[in-house]
Parts: sequence; structure tokens; C-alpha cells
Amino acid sequence: MAFPKLFVREKATQNHFDRDRIAGYNHYLARLISLQTNLHNQESELSKVDSQQRVLSGMRPTGRLHLGHMHGVLNNWVKLQHEYECFFFVADWHALTTHHDHSLSLDQHVLDMVIDWLAVGVNPGSAALFVQSRVPEHAELHLLLSMITPLGWLERVPSYKDQQDKLQEKDLATYGFLGYPLLQAADILIYRAGYVPVGADQVAHVELTRETARRFNHIYGREPGFEENATAAIKKMGKKAAKQYSNLRTAYQEQGDHEALEKAKALLKEQQNISIGDSERLFGYLEGGGKMILAEPQALLTKSAKMPGLDGQKMSKSYDNTITLREPLDQVEKKISRMPTDPARVRLRDPGDPEKCPVWQLHQTYSSADTKQWVVDGCTSAGIGCLECKKPISDAIIAELEPIQKEAAQYEKDPDIVRSIIAEGCETAREAAKETLQDVRDAMGLGRW
Ligand code: TRP
Ligand code: SF4
Repeated sequence: MAFPKLFVREKATQNHFDRDRIAGYNHYLARLISLQTNLHNQESELSKVDSQQRVLSGMRPTGRLHLGHMHGVLNNWVKLQHEYECFFFVADWHALTTHHDHSLSLDQHVLDMVIDWLAVGVNPGSAALFVQSRVPEHAELHLLLSMITPLGWLERVPSYKDQQDKLQEKDLATYGFLGYPLLQAADILIYRAGYVPVGADQVAHVELTRETARRFNHIYGREPGFEENATAAIKKMGKKAAKQYSNLRTAYQEQGDHEALEKAKALLKEQQNISIGDSERLFGYLEGGGKMILAEPQALLTKSAKMPGLDGQKMSKSYDNTITLREPLDQVEKKISRMPTDPARVRLRDPGDPEKCPVWQLHQTYSSADTKQWVVDGCTSAGIGCLECKKPISDAIIAELEPIQKEAAQYEKDPDIVRSIIAEGCETAREAAKETLQDVRDAMGLGRW
């Protein structure tokens, strides 16, 4: 089905951050109407980008998102979407590698997950939001990369053994699960993403991605006709820039002028009229080597949220200690009131130590300096009770979740708008993915006969 393109990509501006959530659902609806009359102009705005400005990340749809996700991953995405060209996707194939037995109702989880993203302020006008399995190019790249990936690389990735040990009840001795990190590498490389925001547990996967890119470039980097393609690409820059580029390249190659090299790189970065493929080609041509077909990404380590779960351990679905983003608001106060506190405070008149109390960690996220001072004074002098101490936290969580849940409810009522957001994100993603895949096919000799 052909969906109209609804959302223009926006350049970052300062006040976007606040605007995202306020704008929300109604804003999208208004744009839907106005943009349908304005389809033409949008094409030019979806123009070329610097691959080092691209950010990609994915999340497996394995259940409801909770406060830990929001304060860790999602708020970071909301920030990044204004600084980079972002691609955020639901990794539904990755979910199948560990849950192939239909224990997840994937479709519903996918939709719920995207609704949660939208409700916290991830903005489809600033980031492409899509679903992995709707961009089949990921699968083709995964297959092609599998040809050059030594088995040992995959067997050595720490999560391979860890997860098998942890999820004993699951049959993870599958080909699909072994390929998990390589599929992730394909997810990243297909967008030539420069940065991949992930938690510490995923860094090894980004490292494998880098090794894969290096190996690929080493084996296939010298595309046939490289020289001619580079010369053609130079022409596409326009007369003036083409001449500057050629002079700078000669200065570097014949006189080893490093300043000229840097200038030429800066010049390339400014070019708006050439494709990423051509741009990579010209970067390669400068230094004489072949073309960098796949770009090596860097992990952007997401600070793990200091958000404790209700039992004081890290907030996580597997510990059953979460407050989800859709938690019924009347449950929030109940859940918080049941949280354990400093065990020394058996009675009201027993003084406590906030450092020994998980509730204190929540105050770090939710409370002002004054409130925190009130907690320290009141706790250590037994001047306040624990329930009293917890109240500002449940109030703050409720205040935080209320507008998010309102947004989410709007989308739930109108899932078609979510579907069209996803459809458009998929289309944007596919355009970018196809470009890389064509270069990969060419390089591997699966050209264009
Ligand atoms: N493996 C990631 C996780 O479990 C999800 C993921 C899949 C991902 N593909 C990705 C993350 C690509 C970043 C980039 O969290
Ligand atoms: Fe924890 Fe607050 Fe009770 Fe102190 S008063 S133990 S910080 S809940």
C-alpha cells in the first residue's frame, strides 16, 4: 500500500525539545492535512546527509516500556534526534531470535512500543521510526555479510554464551540466535551510521560491527571501475568544487600536503549534491585507496539510568519491579508506598540513612535540592516517616506520566496514524538502505546485469 509522505524532516532548533511533547498528536494530525497538499516540496528536504551525522538504534519489542527505559534510552533519543539524523527502529526479527515460539504477540508489542516512543516525545518529524522486518534490505545485507563472517567471531561474542546460560528454558542453539550480532551489524551498517546509542551490554555487538565493516572493506573495497566512478563523482560536485577538489588531491598526493587533505575533506563534507556512495568514493580517492563501502560506527554509551526498581535492584521486567509508562496512575502511589526502605527504620522514631534506601535514589531523579535536603534532615533525625518521604516521588511520577499517558491514549484510539508514521519511517529507511545495499551488491560482484 502506498502511504503519502506525511512528515517533513526538520532541522534542529533549540525549543524543539519542549515542543515535542506539547505538539504531539494534534500537531501530527494538523501536519497530515497540510502536508498532503504540499508533497512536492518535501522531496528536496529529504536530501543527502553526512554519514557521520547519522545515529541508529533499535529496541526489541519484548514488553512494556518502563521508567527505566524512559530515563535511560528514550530521553537520550529525544535529545539526539535534534542533533543528528536519527533512525530508530523496532527490532522485531531480533525478538524472534529468542522468542520464536509465539510467546510474544509481536504485532501488538510493535505498535505499543512505537506509541510509547511517540508519547515520550520521539518525533517522527525529526527521526525515522520504523520496523526492522519492513525493511527487508537488512536481511539481504545480513545474508551477504554472513559469507565473510568467521563462525568464531559469533561464537566468541559474550552475549551468545551468557544468554544461553541465562535463558536455560529457551532453545537458543539456533542458527538465528548465533547470527543475532551479525543481524545487528547489518542493521547498523546498512545506514552507514556513525553513532549507535546503546547500553554497555551491547558494546561488544558494535565492536563486531566495526570488525565486519573493516573486513568487508578490505575484501571488497576496490570496486571495479573505481577510478572512473570517482572521476564521474568529481564532476557531479559542480565546476568550482570539482576543480578545488582535484587541486587539493594533487597537492596531497604529490607533495604530501596534509593541510590540503584536510581542506579537501572539509570541502567534501559541504557537498549537498552528491550521494553518500559518491561521497565515500571521493573520500577514498583522496588518499589513494579504494572506496570505504561500509562505515565503521562508534558506540555512544547510554548512561544507565540510576532508576532503581521497586525492590531496589535495577528496574527491569525480568525482576518484576517496574513502573511501566502506562501504569494506571492509581497504582503508582500504592507501588511506591510498598517499596522497601532503610531496614534500620523499623519504627517512626528510628533514624535512618538515605544512602541505604532505594527511595533516596528516586529522589535523585525526581526531587529538587530543597526536597532532598528535607529528606536527609527528616530521615536522619526521624523527623519524617517513610510514607511521607515517598509522597513527593509518587506525585512527581504521576505528574510525569499523566501527559505521556494522555498522548498514548490518543494514539491508541487512532492506531492508523501510528501505522502511517511507521510506514513513512520505513520508506525513509528503505531509501537510505537501498543505496548502501546497491554498493554492497556491486562490490561483491552481484552487479546490475
Ligand atoms: N540488540 C539490541 C538490544 O537488545 C537491539 C538492537 C538490534 C540494536 N539491532 C540494533 C541496537 C542495532 C542498536 C543498533 O538492545
Ligand atoms: Fe528512605 Fe525516606 Fe524512609 Fe529515609 S525517610 S528510609 S530516605 S523512605
